[in-house]
Amino acid sequence: MSQKKGIGKTALITGASSGIGQELAKLFAQDGYNLVLVARSVETLHRLSEVFEMNYGTEEVLVIEKDLSEEDAARDVYEQVKAKGITVDVLVNDAGVSTYGKFATETDWETEKSLIHLNVLTTTLLTKLYLKDMVARNEGKILNLASLVSITPFPLQAVYAATKSYVWNLTQSLVNELKDTNVTVTALMPNATDTDFFNKAGASDTLVTEMLDDPAMVAKDGYDALMAGKPKVVPGGIKNKAFEVMAYTMPQEMLASQMRKFNTPKQQVKEEAKSSGLAIGIGLAAVALTGIALAALYRNASWSDKLQAQYQYGKAKYKAGKAYDQVKHAVSEVLA
Ligand SMILES: NC(=O)c1ccc[n+]([C@@H]2O[C@H](COP(=O)([O-])OP(=O)(O)OC[C@H]3O[C@@H](n4cnc5c(N)ncnc54)[C@H](OP(=O)(O)O)[C@@H]3O)[C@@H](O)[C@H]2O)c1
Repeated sequence: MSQKKGIGKTALITGASSGIGQELAKLFAQDGYNLVLVARSVETLHRLSEVFEMNYGTEEVLVIEKDLSEEDAARDVYEQVKAKGITVDVLVNDAGVSTYGKFATETDWETEKSLIHLNVLTTTLLTKLYLKDMVARNEGKILNLASLVSITPFPLQAVYAATKSYVWNLTQSLVNELKDTNVTVTALMPNATDTDFFNKAGASDTLVTEMLDDPAMVAKDGYDALMAGKPKVVPGGIKNKAFEVMAYTMPQEMLASQMRKFNTPKQQVKEEAKSSGLAIGIGLAAVALTGIALAALYRNASWSDKLQAQYQYGKAKYKAGKAYDQVKHAVSEVLA
């Protein structure tokens, strides 16, 4: 039987009452860790602690009811844990929220201020306080909830995406600063995940909510990367890794426009697709064909080269025709 690696250790998880944080808390409990669970929904945290004690034999669970968007919340949590004589071996900065709408005219500053406090200031101060102790002991691990929108613009959730860029950037700098120690920091970068997150943000009817990942999968990939001391992890296999590569390579303007589409209400996307989707598909195919035809016409080439160019044109025409059919099919699916 494999030894549970968390026996005698403690993990502190913010945002443990729901979604990815709750799934992470479960993984720590299964691995034998004692827990410090922090969130506002104190009853949920107590219920969870009972379930963990019953199902996994968790020995110690400290529940801290805290609104982490408040001034000094991070320091207060740190002091409460210290007063109990608990050493935190693993810190998970999971608690985070978003808000939806156009920054200039629709979103509310007080909501954004509180969001920045939670996602940025509390995450930074908790990291600072615990990192200092971890470096002094030369051991410890931190998992910070970043996002795939850490590396893309996300119109209509602009402030949220900016806070996640901050978390990602901070984490990667710390990875470097800590490289000569046994302390590791990991950024977890999920794609859109099936939690209460979009609902709470007021974005539950957006196109992106049709393609959500499983929070248990996200947590497991994050947990494994944290334990392996990796600097970052994009959970969800090739689909999300391809998205990551696209985010690094695509021009920002195009990326922003694609992300805006994902973050637009489904009904609006369908209506827009009706008027422009087919035209875009036809346009793309036409551009491809025109480019290749011009290359064939103007190529200053020998007879055999021209034959070769004509062959390429025929092949491209066939491929463009297929691409056009695929676009037509995709658009008709969206419109169905
Ligand atoms: N879902 C996604 O698509 C997605 C994608 C990428 C990254 N993420 C990140 O993953 C993290 C977890 O989100 P989730 O998807 O699991 O959402 P969720 O189910 O809504 O969970 C959010 C957690 O944060 C806690 N929280 C929110 N505001 C708080 C506050 N003021 N004080 C203390 N705790 C607070 C909530 O607890 P209480 O309400 O009980 O306080 C809850 O436990 C966030 O940092 C989010 O940015 C999510």
